Amino acid sequence: MTVFLQLETAVLLLLLCGVGECARHALLIIADDAGFETEVYNNTVVRTPHLKALAGRGVVFRNAFTSVSSCSPSRSTILTGLPQHQNGMYGLHQGVHHFNSFDGVQSLPLLLKQSNVRTGIIGKKHVGPGAVFPFDFAYTEENGSVLQVGRNITRIKLLVRKFLQEHRQEERSGGETRPFFLYVAFHDPHRCGHSQPQYGSFCEKFGNGESGMGRIPDWKPQHYTPEQVKVPYFIPDTPAARADLAAQYTTVSRLDQGIGLVLQELRDAGFGNDTLVMYSSDNGIPFPNGRTNLYDSGVAEPMIISSPEHRERWGQTSDAYVSLLDVTPTLLDWFSVPYPPYSLTRGSLVHLTGRSLLPALSSEPVWDTAFGSQSLHEATMYYPMRSVRRGRYVLLHNLNYRSPFPIDQDLYVSPTFQDLLQRTQAGTPTHWFKTLRQYYYRERWEMFDTHSDPAEQTNLASDPRYTAVLELLKEQLLKWQWETEDPWVCAPDAVLEDKMEPKCRPLYNEL
Ligand SMILES: *[C@@H]1O[C@H](CO)[C@@H](O)[C@H](O)[C@H]1NC(C)=O
Ligand SMILES: *[C@@H]1O[C@H](CO)[C@@H](O)[C@H](O)[C@H]1NC(C)=O
Ligand SMILES: *[C@@H]1O[C@H](CO)[C@@H](O)[C@H](O)[C@H]1NC(C)=O
Ligand SMILES: *[C@@H]1O[C@H](CO)[C@@H](O)[C@H](O)[C@H]1NC(C)=O
Repeated sequence: MTVFLQLETAVLLLLLCGVGECARHALLIIADDAGFETEVYNNTVVRTPHLKALAGRGVVFRNAFTSVSSCSPSRSTILTGLPQHQNGMYGLHQGVHHFNSFDGVQSLPLLLKQSNVRTGIIGKKHVGPGAVFPFDFAYTEENGSVLQVGRNITRIKLLVRKFLQEHRQEERSGGETRPFFLYVAFHDPHRCGHSQPQYGSFCEKFGNGESGMGRIPDWKPQHYTPEQVKVPYFIPDTPAARADLAAQYTTVSRLDQGIGLVLQELRDAGFGNDTLVMYSSDNGIPFPNGRTNLYDSGVAEPMIISSPEHRERWGQTSDAYVSLLDVTPTLLDWFSVPYPPYSLTRGSLVHLTGRSLLPALSSEPVWDTAFGSQSLHEATMYYPMRSVRRGRYVLLHNLNYRSPFPIDQDLYVSPTFQDLLQRTQAGTPTHWFKTLRQYYYRERWEMFDTHSDPAEQTNLASDPRYTAVLELLKEQLLKWQWETEDPWVCAPDAVLEDKMEPKCRPLYNEL
């Protein structure tokens, strides 16, 4: 039956489109809070054969960054190409946080839909309003359980199959080869302790077949011991953190097996040779100094792009600086959809500051800059920051540096953070690379040389030897803020008067 269907599909394809004329499709896979816990990035402990295979058929980016280290804001930038301060998604979308993008934003799914691309989302959506992010096919937390659509890899596999089958059926009845864009947003390997602690701190027990955990038929759980894990430099090397990481690894293995199932569905449906596949994550891993920070540990992301049409660099790594702000321009380029002229808040035309990454699939580009912009995570976590990374240097601007850096609820209850709090309180060694006090209270400007100081511990901002670099980076950052209509562009020592000719007016507040 399947063989027959596949044959029929192949014949149909031959009839409908000659060589090189078939519709191009795209599959975007975004993991939730995933980092570099994969063989693709030389972590030899956690087993991720499917990501590794994908990397072998694509280019791996070693300098990929999100512009914002928070779930909804990051997803909004992925799906619009606009930083959070420009698209309006300043913080989390769900519950009391209630952030949304501006009604006028022309998002990727909207532009693709208008260009006759069929759009689908499976998994965690976490952005709004609905009219800005429309999908023809949607199985998300908005109309189902996020555990099912985001972590149950059997369920995800069946939904991908449904989407692809419907696409084939539509093709048959409509007689046209319509492109599709499928966005699979895993909820793995997000923490779980804050929402569903019964499944373990990373939901690593959900569906493992043990009593009360249910079973995910396609999942073969992989277990890791605390002794085995690799502790990144920004996580305290303690038994609590090691156990936390071991749980995270198990969930990463589920993610990897899920990705394997999704890619197998794509091949089985006959789309393997005309689908661009992109893999990344929304923000840094949920540990101290990670998610919600613009430090490297909060914004560096895994990124793999596999294009069946660009085989020149398959299996290679790229050192080019790329951003999640580049996802929308890349996919618009892939589908040959132009970005429309329109304006949002200030009347001037919106333009994308990211770029298509397709050229990097043919030859190594010289891209060396990535910007960052964060305002909130939870509604209570107001801590605006802006950043620019250029080559070996990174500059961070902590606008509200006099307040303590805020902590989110999910991290707060985590075994790693609780242990860090208790050790700090008790005055026993934390085995962390900074103190909580240093973490909470930051300088207004922080500048690091990431070559000599990859852990970003020595602030060079007030070192006279680096004045020229500092000025250059400040100028570049400000230029980008103006270009992207950043309402915070004058903060914290001036007020933006943005009617007529936008200008910063000084406050004389001694900052
Ligand atoms: C992994 O390590 C090898 C050998 O040192 C190196 O060539 C490769 O670029 C590394 N991969 C990544 C993604 O960093
Ligand atoms: C979710 O929405 C889709 C329409 O996109 C619908 O087909 C599906 O039945 C809905 N699922 C649930 C559980 O309501
Ligand atoms: C996962 O989904 C499959 C298919 O829908 C279902 O049979 C199974 O019970 C689900 N597992 C859990 C743990 O919910
Ligand atoms: C995909 O394309 C390659 C090279 O053009 C070809 O060798 C391979 O057989 C194709 N695979 C499928 C499943 O059509």
